[in-house]
Amino acid sequence: MERGASAVKIVQGSGQPADAPAHITIRGLSKQFNGAVVYDRLDLDIPRGKFVSVFGPNGCGKSTLINMIAGLIPIDAGEIFFAGKTLKEIKFGYVFQNYREALFPWLRSIDNIEYPLKHMSLPKAERRARVERLVEHLGVKIDLQRYPYELSGGQQQLISIMRALVVEPEVLFLDEPFSALDYEMTLFMREQLQRIFQETGTTMVLVSHDLEEAVYLADRILLLSRRPARVADFPRNEAPRPRTDETLSDAGFVQLKAHCLEVFQREVRKG
Ligand SMILES: Nc1ncnc2c1ncn2[C@@H]1O[C@H](COP(=O)(O)OP(=O)(O)OP(=O)(O)O)[C@@H](O)[C@H]1O
Ligand SMILES: [Mg+2]
Repeated sequence: MERGASAVKIVQGSGQPADAPAHITIRGLSKQFNGAVVYDRLDLDIPRGKFVSVFGPNGCGKSTLINMIAGLIPIDAGEIFFAGKTLKEIKFGYVFQNYREALFPWLRSIDNIEYPLKHMSLPKAERRARVERLVEHLGVKIDLQRYPYELSGGQQQLISIMRALVVEPEVLFLDEPFSALDYEMTLFMREQLQRIFQETGTTMVLVSHDLEEAVYLADRILLLSRRPARVADFPRNEAPRPRTDETLSDAGFVQLKAHCLEVFQREVRKG
């Protein structure tokens, strides 16, 4: 049996409650870049409506994984299904690390958010109504008539998260979305993301290089090994939501974070 699959089994067999049914099913996924094997027959199930954080050594293939799932780069072998559907049949959102390059500078914030709806051939009035519903739902206070360059980094990233959400995606992928933000803004954005997750129930897959953030936000933490990346562990975080500053000093949280760090360091030392 593929080692990643057995790691998932161990966790599932550890007396914890069963997860939601798989939303994303990955079987036998393989990927190489110029002969360097990044994935070799990876098996993985991502549960529906859960928040999964992806954490692992530098260059192990975290971005490659979500890029392959989102169809942004081709796979060499294997299958990826979305509860029986293919990628083309589902709606998904993707938030890029670099919000400065991700937003269209010539469009006002509101038009940036609305942009993906143009590809869904919705009438203009319906597009605007959808954006307004989202803004209201999230309680966003930003002046959306402003251009991206008139906003702070965090506000711009919030716009790009809203642009990803406006299509009402089944799955939201986020690749280190807060890494270019200062600490204060990062903390604020974590709370926003947690709130959006709680309010929408969207399946979320977040790549993070910050272990505390990865554990804090997640229902499950996908710990990847060095290349070729396999599932080193996939533990659960069952702390109630909303998680708060107190969560960070909670014994269960501290213990889970220490466990993840231990797995990570074991993987790094193998290199
Ligand atoms: N387009 C590409 N062409 C060649 N090699 C690539 C390409 N994209 C990624 N790689 C290689 O594949 C491996 C995995 O890259 P990836 O960007 O997925 O890692 P990562 O875990 O996201 O890293 P980081 O922590 O630096 O963000 C790395 O060794 C990288 O150099
Ligand atoms: Mg990356």
